[in-house]
Amino acid sequence: MQRCLVTGGAGFIGSHLSERLLELGHEVTILDDLSTGRRENLNHIENHPRLKIRTGSITDPVLLADVMTKVDVIYHMAAAVGVKLVADDPVRTIQTNIYPTEELLRLAVQRKQRVFIASTSEVYGKNPKERWTEEDDLVFGPTSRPRWAYGCSKAIDEFLALAFHRKFGLPVVIGRFFNVVGPRQVGHYGMVIPRFVDSAMNGGPIVVYDDGQQVRCFGHVREVVDAVIGLVETPAAHGLVYNIGSDFPITIQKLAEEIIQRVDPAVKLQFLPYRDAYGDDFEDVRRRVPDVSRLEKMLGRKPTMTLGAILDDIIRWKREQLSASAKS
Ligand SMILES: NC(=O)c1ccc[n+]([C@@H]2O[C@H](COP(=O)([O-])OP(=O)(O)OC[C@H]3O[C@@H](n4cnc5c(N)ncnc54)[C@H](O)[C@@H]3O)[C@@H](O)[C@H]2O)c1
Repeated sequence: MQRCLVTGGAGFIGSHLSERLLELGHEVTILDDLSTGRRENLNHIENHPRLKIRTGSITDPVLLADVMTKVDVIYHMAAAVGVKLVADDPVRTIQTNIYPTEELLRLAVQRKQRVFIASTSEVYGKNPKERWTEEDDLVFGPTSRPRWAYGCSKAIDEFLALAFHRKFGLPVVIGRFFNVVGPRQVGHYGMVIPRFVDSAMNGGPIVVYDDGQQVRCFGHVREVVDAVIGLVETPAAHGLVYNIGSDFPITIQKLAEEIIQRVDPAVKLQFLPYRDAYGDDFEDVRRRVPDVSRLEKMLGRKPTMTLGAILDDIIRWKREQLSASAKS
């Protein structure tokens, strides 16, 4: 049994990770300020005897040091996330995503703890390559455009984590997540699948930004958290960055059509320029596809769930939510 701390454990990925760690027999402490996470994500595990939930912020150094005592492994998932939130509040993004990570890494070195750092495909910025490998260049836009603050803040976390690994031998793994999706993800912060499914269930239209020809890959959260735990538990994997997610590309228009076909074929698509959704200084990344061979080589597997199976799982969960709220 390991004693695990999951920062951001009430969030979408963090709640699935916490659930999986409990299933594997570990002890879990969650630290979350419930800013974008939700307490109901933990409803089904909240009374688990090996789970502790602490409500508070990773930006509070006293609290962070306290929850990090008597812990073997730290999964650092808490962050200011979502394209919209980050574009609206770049100061909060930087304060949440950089300083607490440095503090956490410093304490983990002293206490000889293993660490997982959640990073993002956003660190590749506008790199025009077809498939991104972990050693590719990071190509950000100008600092006058706040949307790059998110990717840059996570890139600094990566530099910090790698520096602590080189200098002090900290056993750390960095995962760059590519569009992780599944039950419990909500659409408030610009997440595309929950937004599309909600629109389709409400009769439409589904609003697609720009021309809908942007390319993304969608990985199921269960396969992603299994990869995260697998990397942390493999000593040879430590000290490196990994792309984590599906490597199956699909356009956003095709994604919307797949959802329409499953939910209600009468729903229409509507196209909206980015400027109307995010303001004049927004820049998007047209194509975001990972090369996951480093992950596959290290673990002997990669996420393989099909988009159809992933969408079925999300739609089933949404329908359950709707019928539960209709009954209450
Ligand atoms: N979902 C994705 O596709 C995706 C892609 C790339 C990277 N990521 C990264 O994965 C991690 C988890 O993201 P998610 O999709 O589950 O989002 P989420 O918003 O559901 O989870 C983030 C959690 O962190 C918590 N949090 C935020 N600020 C905090 C603070 N100051 N103190 C304590 N808790 C705080 C939130 O309340 C939330 O529960 C993040 O680090 C994010 O950057 C996610």
